[in-house]
Amino acid sequence: MKISLVKEELITKVKTDLLVVGVQSKKIAKDPLVAKLNSATRGVLLRCIKDEEFTGKKGQTLAVLAQGSISAKYLLLVGLWSDKKESAESVSRWLGVFAGREAQKHASIALVAPSQKDDVLRSIAEGITTGAYRYTRYFTGSRKPKQRLRKATIVVQQEPTKAAQKTVDDGARVGTLVNLARDLVNCPANHLSPADLAEIAAEECKKAGISCKIYNKNAIEKLGMPLLLAVNQGSSREPRFVHMVYKPITTDKTTPRVVFVGKGLTFDSGGLCLKPPTSMLDMKEDMSGAAVTLGIVLAAAHLKLPVEVHGLIAATDNSIGPDAYRPGDVLPSRNGKFVEVINTDAEGRMVLADALTYAGELKPTYMVDHATLTGSCEVALGSYTCGLFCNNDQLARLYLQASKETGESYWRLPLASDLKDQLKSAIADLKHTGSRYGGAITAALFLQEFVGNRRWVHLDIAGPAFLERQHGTMPKGGTGFGVITGVRFLESVASTAKKDAE
Ligand code: BES
Ligand code: MN
Ligand code: ZN
Repeated sequence: MKISLVKEELITKVKTDLLVVGVQSKKIAKDPLVAKLNSATRGVLLRCIKDEEFTGKKGQTLAVLAQGSISAKYLLLVGLWSDKKESAESVSRWLGVFAGREAQKHASIALVAPSQKDDVLRSIAEGITTGAYRYTRYFTGSRKPKQRLRKATIVVQQEPTKAAQKTVDDGARVGTLVNLARDLVNCPANHLSPADLAEIAAEECKKAGISCKIYNKNAIEKLGMPLLLAVNQGSSREPRFVHMVYKPITTDKTTPRVVFVGKGLTFDSGGLCLKPPTSMLDMKEDMSGAAVTLGIVLAAAHLKLPVEVHGLIAATDNSIGPDAYRPGDVLPSRNGKFVEVINTDAEGRMVLADALTYAGELKPTYMVDHATLTGSCEVALGSYTCGLFCNNDQLARLYLQASKETGESYWRLPLASDLKDQLKSAIADLKHTGSRYGGAITAALFLQEFVGNRRWVHLDIAGPAFLERQHGTMPKGGTGFGVITGVRFLESVASTAKKDAE
């Protein structure tokens, strides 16, 4: 969707179906935009605000039919204030998302930008694009959406520059990539095999002009990823390993290299340690890490970030065919350690172990994995927060700072080494699961065995990757959680590298 910028000092004159205005202050009547619109509507606006008990608190919206008093047909007020301190970027994205959601009912919308700063414009555009998202692939007839947003405009006070329009285009593009991640997560497992996932990644990389190598089962055998192959044993669908690379046009020794790794379980039945039906229902979401990884790499390429970015996807089903791997099996791994399988439902750490070993071989400055890894993490932090584990404090700070700016919720959890005992096996180097207590931590400790001394962040997105209902800026179903923070992280890596070089 094209989002354009227009200059209009008189917001009463903006011609559009829906005019969206954010309310930032607690004293609504004193808000200059509200005051202007109120006098244009001859007091109708404030009367509606009172009647509907609209306080301007974050999350509230108020739609008013303008009845010819202004050039727009409808007015939408979006509440933006909250007692939490939030970045301008996060507030702007929120505004954009609410506008985008509402936009589904209108052919054109115009949104009044709170400021003309780059991060504000970009996140408004991201917000509108992601807010307008719905997964409609399997609707026909009356449930098929009738109207798609045709025209979105951001209204600014000063003449917009070319650079500002580019910022808006960038925001819309990043939003589209978040939506791509959501589409992949929402796609049912019968329509998304590991091969399909890899093929989509390859197509998108081709469009973006970056390299993408796909390894099929045969090639994975040659490459040496025994743990990925073990998880795949019970499935009739072949695994795939995907290696995408974006390289900036000019690189030198100071160019940082960041490797992202994504868990790509196109369906997790639990394997022989089969999940109960209710836990299995949403397990098409178990490739969310892969979807987020793809989104981040493509965004880095689009934004031409001065960072070398690799994306690795380990894709397979976890099924129960006759050759399925068993509890008690001992398997070799890419880095040589032997692993004793305890519970075949802990398949994510298996495929990630080999992928992280491969990631380390690329000698990255940082490596970051996204994985819907443990139910325990969701038990610990709830459904909206991602667990962050990191073996380097400076890197953890960088990532958490990026998340503060985007407004996605991350919380650091400890790599508590006193729980490592739980991973001791009587017959192999490592047992692959610990006890029920601290399950997210022991999973992370298992992964740590495969990262050596590389600086590494592990992001357990089991909660926020997929939601039962809409929450905040996140939609129901696949959320694409992690894409925008990953991109923001890369931007801060780029600017720190530049500062260091100076
Ligand atoms: N994919 C699941 C984790 C998960 C659960 C993701 C809920 C999203 C929502 C993972 O493979 C899994 O099954 N983990 C087990 C590990 C256990 C067997 C040690 C879990 O969390 O129960
Ligand atoms: Mn599992
Ligand atoms: Zn899983």
